[in-house]
Amino acid sequence: MPDPAPRPTVLLLNGPNLNLLGERDPAQYGSTTLAGVEQRVRALGEELGAAVECAQSNHEGVLVEHVHAARDLDGIVLNPGAFAHYSIALRDAIDAVDTPCVEVHISNVYAREPFRHTSVTAPVVQGYIAGCGVVGYELALRAVLHRIEEARRPHV
Ligand code: DQA
Repeated sequence: MPDPAPRPTVLLLNGPNLNLLGERDPAQYGSTTLAGVEQRVRALGEELGAAVECAQSNHEGVLVEHVHAARDLDGIVLNPGAFAHYSIALRDAIDAVDTPCVEVHISNVYAREPFRHTSVTAPVVQGYIAGCGVVGYELALRAVLHRIEEARRPHV
């Protein structure tokens, strides 16, 4: 019998101002806190047989380093916050690692100010979810696990 595939580990990474979830602009972002989001995504990971590691930073370079460190992990669920709209450094970090990444925005950025309609990170991620509220994080975890499973499956 071949060894069963090891349990995948996914990084849930949140960018600037997302530490204020629950109190920041609830009309856009809802009332769930970041701790609540992390708990829900971890619980879904357990249910689906995956470990979820969580991190948040308000600093571009720290986010870049988290993405680099995720070279040793199996997937990334990333809400880059406002960095999605202009951080070439974060874009290049995602592009530089082979780890599949799904981008999440809680709000529907395309229904908001024009500067939110550009994502410099979207072209280098495997999937993109916006406007589904915090449920988007759970959808993104399912999506990235599906990618991981597909990549592991022997081609016939
Ligand atoms: C956001 C959308 C961004 O435009 C904004 O700067 C954020 C949150 C979202 O989750 O909807 O910080 O990424």
